[in-house]
Amino acid sequence: MADLFEHVVNLCKRRGFVFPSAEIYGGFRSTYDYGPVGVLLLRNVQEAWWRSMVQLRDDVVGLDAAILSPPQIWEASGHLQNFTDPLVDCRNCKERFRLDKLEDPDTCPSCGKQGTFTEARQFNLMFKTFAGPVEGAGAEVYLRPETAQGMFTQFKNVLDTSRKKPPFGIAQVGKSFRNEITPGNFVFRTREFIQMEMEFFVPPAEAPAWFAYWCQERYRWNVDLGIPEDQLQLRPHDPDELSHYSSATSDVEFLFPWGWDELEGIANRGDFDLTQHSKHSGEKLEYFDQAANERYTPHVIEPAAGATRTMMAFLMSAYTEDEVGGEARTVLKLHPRLAPYKVAVLPLSKKETLTPLAREVLALLQPHMLCDYDETQSIGKRYRRQDEIGTPWCVTVDFDSLDDRAVTIRDRDSLEQVRIPIDSLVGELRGRLES
Ligand code: GAP
Repeated sequence: MADLFEHVVNLCKRRGFVFPSAEIYGGFRSTYDYGPVGVLLLRNVQEAWWRSMVQLRDDVVGLDAAILSPPQIWEASGHLQNFTDPLVDCRNCKERFRLDKLEDPDTCPSCGKQGTFTEARQFNLMFKTFAGPVEGAGAEVYLRPETAQGMFTQFKNVLDTSRKKPPFGIAQVGKSFRNEITPGNFVFRTREFIQMEMEFFVPPAEAPAWFAYWCQERYRWNVDLGIPEDQLQLRPHDPDELSHYSSATSDVEFLFPWGWDELEGIANRGDFDLTQHSKHSGEKLEYFDQAANERYTPHVIEPAAGATRTMMAFLMSAYTEDEVGGEARTVLKLHPRLAPYKVAVLPLSKKETLTPLAREVLALLQPHMLCDYDETQSIGKRYRRQDEIGTPWCVTVDFDSLDDRAVTIRDRDSLEQVRIPIDSLVGELRGRLES
């Protein structure tokens, strides 16, 4: 669809998914706030990830590690040394660019002049701040640029307390921060974002097989939540693209309006991280296999996804324009598990006689699922609004409901309407949600 990007960005603002941060002060450089329905969608993305990575498995446990971290962690991980982008400045227009993202490394894309770039400087992407009242050497701390390191530094504590043994994983969802030189494309690349990462510790000989397994699992997760397969691909990295820690990486890529781009990376990190943290901390980060009477450093397979970026892909692939009764409608065909509200309760009219029963239906559903309630405007307009925020089902309470204690469920995608007794409503909707 032409202009899909603009349509989605406009919808996000208009319906309360995503707002520019600090907008009343003119906005604040590529940062965003998630509005009343955006926060629900973003939580549902994280919840769907956690469900598949932790809840439905017995070989992965969770962690929530600190965001502020001492330099030693980033010294050991290699981020202080290697987590850099090459930066050039145009001497003519003073604009700054990432050298590796320039189409022509000799021509400024802003002013068009040739040969005006400075020598490339390596720019570290980590945000540095100071802990305590004194700024300066010894007080530096970093905002984590990835959640991954928490899983490596807590490897021993988790191993000692969780009764897990390789192959097993540690999963974490949380904020990460990168001082990106070129943030952009809405929430695709921001300086503050949410990651969903899992470090899977395996016996070294099993690493290639687990790498292949996690590539397939992560591809499938996106498909199961509604991304069409022709908008999704797994792309192995070329050797010159690999991060400093990786011996193999494949990206799950989504066909964004500007082309294929990364949703998440699955990397074979080998024993790089545990070995580095062992060396730097002096703590042995190994596993002792009693049956084989052998001690080894597990290898790590890491599926690393971005929740904010993945949310954007779900929005892009769900955005649909169709026609209902000769009228254009916009509908977000989000998977019910992801939809901000699962159901909207709509009394047919605002007449006082309907309100008590409509509120009774709402109270019946609320303990089971997130519900919206809307009684203003025509029923047609209220359906359109729910379509635009992706609500899979609307429940209409009408005047007959007062007599027969039945309501109508309208399906967002098929537009099918069925009448069912209020007493069966929870079971019916839960059945639809879980199917
Ligand atoms: N621990 C490995 C790691 O962090 P990464 O490829 O740099 O790998 C993983 O990041 C995922 O985090 C990316 O695939 C992307 O979805 C998300 N991500 C990374 N930088 C981001 C940014 N600036 N804005 C939004 N999401 C980002």
